Amino acid sequence: MDALQQEVLYPRELIDKRVKELAADISRDYQGRELIVIGILKGAFIFMADLIRCLSVPCRVDFVRLASYGAGATSSGKVVMTKDIETSINGCDILIVEDIVDSGLTLTFLVNWLQERNPLSIRVCALLDKRARRQVDFEADYVGFTVDEGFIVGYGLDVDEKARFLPDICVIKEGMKK
Ligand code: PRP
Repeated sequence: MDALQQEVLYPRELIDKRVKELAADISRDYQGRELIVIGILKGAFIFMADLIRCLSVPCRVDFVRLASYGAGATSSGKVVMTKDIETSINGCDILIVEDIVDSGLTLTFLVNWLQERNPLSIRVCALLDKRARRQVDFEADYVGFTVDEGFIVGYGLDVDEKARFLPDICVIKEGMKK
């Protein structure tokens, strides 16, 4: 993969285990209800696909496409929506599924956006929580792993659109990417 070098942070087996635990927590919390699961493209697509197949509550799915990074390692600070949901969420329980919370700007934007449509509830499940670079106060309701500094790729996460396909969650080695 070009000159990029990465090392495994969380291997596939550990991700599987954690995804099952998250799905069990969510299924317990929403027992007897139905969810609309909204994934944030592109980064969340693999995590969401695995997560919903482990849920024991029924769900419908939809997606938004939000981007804030551009072609670089740091957020531009501006969230751009290029695809909205296509489902009515009025009176529904919503679970947003995200790959990583970093500055918190993307999820703050989306929660506010969806609140305008009068859902019954909104919760957020994030695979990764990178707390060091928060710019706004944001807490996900379900978190897979809390990560430190370092540029994370794989399992849906990219660097300049590369590396999403890696089955493990990896970190790019120091000096390879700002
Ligand atoms: C990344 C990531 C999150 C967001 C998190 O998306 O997938 O959606 O940034 O950053 P924040 O908390 O600082 O807002 P990106 O813009 O890289 O698009 P992608 O999902 O298509 O990779």
